[in-house]
Amino acid sequence: MAIFVTQDGSHSVFAEKYGVSYHSKYGAVTESAHVFINAGLRFKAVVQPEISILEVGFGTGLNAFMTWLEAERRNLHVHYVGIEAYPIDTAEADALNYADQLDAPNRQTDFSRLHQCAWNRSVKLSEHFSLHKKQIRLEAFRTTQRFDLVYFDAFAPQAQPELWTERILGLMYNVLKPDGALVTYCAQGAFKRTLKKIGFDVEDLEGPPGKRQMTRGLK
Ligand SMILES: C[S@@+](CC[C@H](N)C(=O)[O-])C[C@H]1O[C@@H](n2cnc3c(N)ncnc32)[C@H](O)[C@@H]1O
Repeated sequence: MAIFVTQDGSHSVFAEKYGVSYHSKYGAVTESAHVFINAGLRFKAVVQPEISILEVGFGTGLNAFMTWLEAERRNLHVHYVGIEAYPIDTAEADALNYADQLDAPNRQTDFSRLHQCAWNRSVKLSEHFSLHKKQIRLEAFRTTQRFDLVYFDAFAPQAQPELWTERILGLMYNVLKPDGALVTYCAQGAFKRTLKKIGFDVEDLEGPPGKRQMTRGLK
């Protein structure tokens, strides 16, 4: 696993297999804060204090960690399901600088707990945050659970077209509750047309540094 420093000082990982990185080179923490926390979690937190989230691509756990910290700040109760086909190992996770970058060096142990906790069952990590990591390929994922929010953080359509299909995005629509939202950094035209075809109301939002737009789909 090749860790590198992005432009805001936070780490990311380069995925050799796909030829892409896990986050924007303009800033991993900046991108997660903009796309998933601001446009996703805060958007939902305005209307409800208890929020269920499905993340596609748990990866380094950065989105999960930032969600946990934000849940504490806003006194939310978050139930978080993270799908990941190829987990990073715990030693790799310990090398990531997210606790420091988020001005929470005392939370490094909690960041490690995200990675050390059991897979394939729900674990209550704090009063505000429970985590259920599912080690499975998204293509095989099935659930009867319904979510308020989907963090769609797969590798880009150019790298992984098989995860941006009408079938998979239709599954995301089906697992959302009425009024649920999907957020993603992707603003590709074909992707947004697929969302509309499925039934999402599509919002074009300002993107994080280095990207003109991002997308939020409302059910
Ligand atoms: C853009 S990265 C996710 C970054 C992550 N959200 C974070 O905060 O670090 C995409 C993730 O999707 C995972 N992935 C790739 N193919 C997958 C598949 N078929 N099913 C589920 N996860 C997959 C990768 O291993 C990687 O962790």
